[in-house]
Amino acid sequence: MKKIQVKLGRRSYPILIKSGLLSPAGKLIRQRLLGVRDICIITDKDVARLYLSQVTRSCRRAGFSVRRIILPVGETQKSLTTAKNIYQKLLKFRFDRSAVLVALGGGVIGDLTGFVAATYLRGVNFIQIPTTLLAQVDAGIGGKVGVNLSQGKNLVGAFYQPRVVLIDPRVLRSLPRRQMKNGWAEIIKYAVIKDGHLFKILERNKDIWSILEKVIVRAVVIKSRLVAKDERDESGVRMILNYGHTVGHALESLGQFKRHQHGEAVALGMTIAANLAVSLKLVGSDFLKRQTALLEKYGLPIRLPAGLRPGQIISKLKYDKKISRKKLHWVLPRGIGRVMVSDKVSLRVLRKVL
Ligand SMILES: NC(=O)c1ccc[n+]([C@@H]2O[C@H](COP(=O)([O-])OP(=O)(O)OC[C@H]3O[C@@H](n4cnc5c(N)ncnc54)[C@H](O)[C@@H]3O)[C@@H](O)[C@H]2O)c1
Ligand SMILES: [Zn+2]
Repeated sequence: MKKIQVKLGRRSYPILIKSGLLSPAGKLIRQRLLGVRDICIITDKDVARLYLSQVTRSCRRAGFSVRRIILPVGETQKSLTTAKNIYQKLLKFRFDRSAVLVALGGGVIGDLTGFVAATYLRGVNFIQIPTTLLAQVDAGIGGKVGVNLSQGKNLVGAFYQPRVVLIDPRVLRSLPRRQMKNGWAEIIKYAVIKDGHLFKILERNKDIWSILEKVIVRAVVIKSRLVAKDERDESGVRMILNYGHTVGHALESLGQFKRHQHGEAVALGMTIAANLAVSLKLVGSDFLKRQTALLEKYGLPIRLPAGLRPGQIISKLKYDKKISRKKLHWVLPRGIGRVMVSDKVSLRVLRKVL
């Protein structure tokens, strides 16, 4: 079993990674939370069908009194309405401040459960058991929790760390391919911004199942180190995690969050950022070739959809900049495993690249 410690002083906690970790989950949670009795597992319908009984059994065996809340599938559950329903159920269960919430699912379940845990009775302990590749390498790590409003995503939330994160790569066997791609896009992002060796592992690989655990560990190490340096995303250290996300977010929102999955949009964003870096002579064209080949290998798009005009993307970026009153910061590659942040990309160069 791999153990990665997220170093945050009193709030430090381990991330445990191993295939088959779901069956001893109860015991591992018990080791972190000795006196606890009440536990509530929060999950969605699809994940419940596959893994809820196994995790429930494991927790009961470890001496917990287990309640469960099963939500419908989908992003719309990340709402204040669902959060309120959960608070009311927890009150009905007579859960007090010693109770623990377990998030069993993808990023939607993790963000929502974390938010409820941060706010129910002013804060109760919570555990992350991420079950999508995206949640295992990204959403489940870092302590950003929250819900959406009709005006936009993640507008209400907190920084609230779990007590332990349990990652079982075996659960990914049941994850649809399209969902896997969201995780691959983030993993390729980590390789470009920080880990040339990871990039090579991904390039050479012939069978994803043989490298998956190793790759997840490397991704988790990178993210948890950046989080430890800048827990609340204030100093700019975490900014490099936005590689590919500036244009990625614009594309997601231009397509009303339907045209592209998050990973597809990020792949296109990374391709545009890499082209910008080549135009600005920050990196050679061999870099662009290797990144493009890698994105294609993991089933990600590298060409903007026909019919999308550069002007639309530029207006969207300008609009976002106006709303946030911030300068646009571009994360640009300098080589494999190395990036820089720049706020000096001219519109002329951007238009040419698009
Ligand atoms: N907190 C953060 O730092 C952070 C970072 C990135 C993304 N996010 C958030 O994460 C969310 C997206 O998360 P996601 O991509 O995991 O999507 P998701 O939680 O919607 O899960 C995707 C789908 O996969 C299913 N599923 C989950 N695990 C499965 C498994 N093992 N086998 C079969 N099906 C399974 C789910 O039922 C769901 O239908 C967004 O709301 C996003 O804002 C948060
Ligand atoms: Zn992302």
